[in-house]
Amino acid sequence: MEDYRRLLLANRMWAKDKLEVDEQYFDGLARGQSPDFLWLGCSDSRVPPDEITGTSPGDIFVHRNIANVVSFTDFNFLSVLEYAVETLKVKHIIVCGHYGCGGVHAALGSSKPGSFLSKWLYNLKAIYKIHKSEIDLHTHERQRWDRLVELNVMEQVQNLARTSIVQRAWEIDQRPALLGWVFNLHDGQLRELVEVQPGTWEDDVYRFEL
Ligand code: CO
Repeated sequence: MEDYRRLLLANRMWAKDKLEVDEQYFDGLARGQSPDFLWLGCSDSRVPPDEITGTSPGDIFVHRNIANVVSFTDFNFLSVLEYAVETLKVKHIIVCGHYGCGGVHAALGSSKPGSFLSKWLYNLKAIYKIHKSEIDLHTHERQRWDRLVELNVMEQVQNLARTSIVQRAWEIDQRPALLGWVFNLHDGQLRELVEVQPGTWEDDVYRFEL
C-alpha cells in the first residue's frame, strides 16, 4: 500500500468514530469556528498543537513556520494574526517553541548561501546577536541551543506586542494575552516561559498612536 493511502484510511476511521460518538459532530464543525487561541508554532512534525494540548478541531487557529517567528514582512503570518485578533477575537496567542529546533540550531552556525532558509534565519540570528554574550557563556552546544530556543520564544512574544494589530486590540478590547511556551521532545511537557497581559507592556520605541 502506498504510504499516503494510510492517511486516507485513517481519515475514514476518524470520521466514522466521530459520528459514532455524536452524529451531529460535522454539522457543528461546518457551522463555523470561534477558537479562543491563536497558535504560532514551529513547522516541525513532532510538535502537533492539537495533539499535545488535547484540543479538538475548532479550538485553535494555527500558524506554523520554521522556528515560530513573528515576521513583520510576512503577509501570510500578518494575515493570520489580523484575522485571528480582529475577526475571530481570540483571547490568547500562544508562541510555542521546542527544544531540538533545527531552525534555531542552524541560526547558531553558518549555513549555505542562497537558500530561502538562509534568509529566514536572519530573523533568528538577530535574536542570537542581541543575546550573544549570555548564550556564549554556556560551554555546551546543547545548552547554547536550548537557551536560544527559549530566548527566541520570549522575543517573538515581544514582537507580537510590537504589532499595531495587538496594540489596537489591547486598547479597545483588553485582549489577547500573549503566552510563550516551550515544548520538550524528551518528556512531552509544555513549559511556560512568559506571559504578557494586555496593558502591562511598556516599550515606547514600538508604541503606536492609537
Ligand atoms: Co523547530
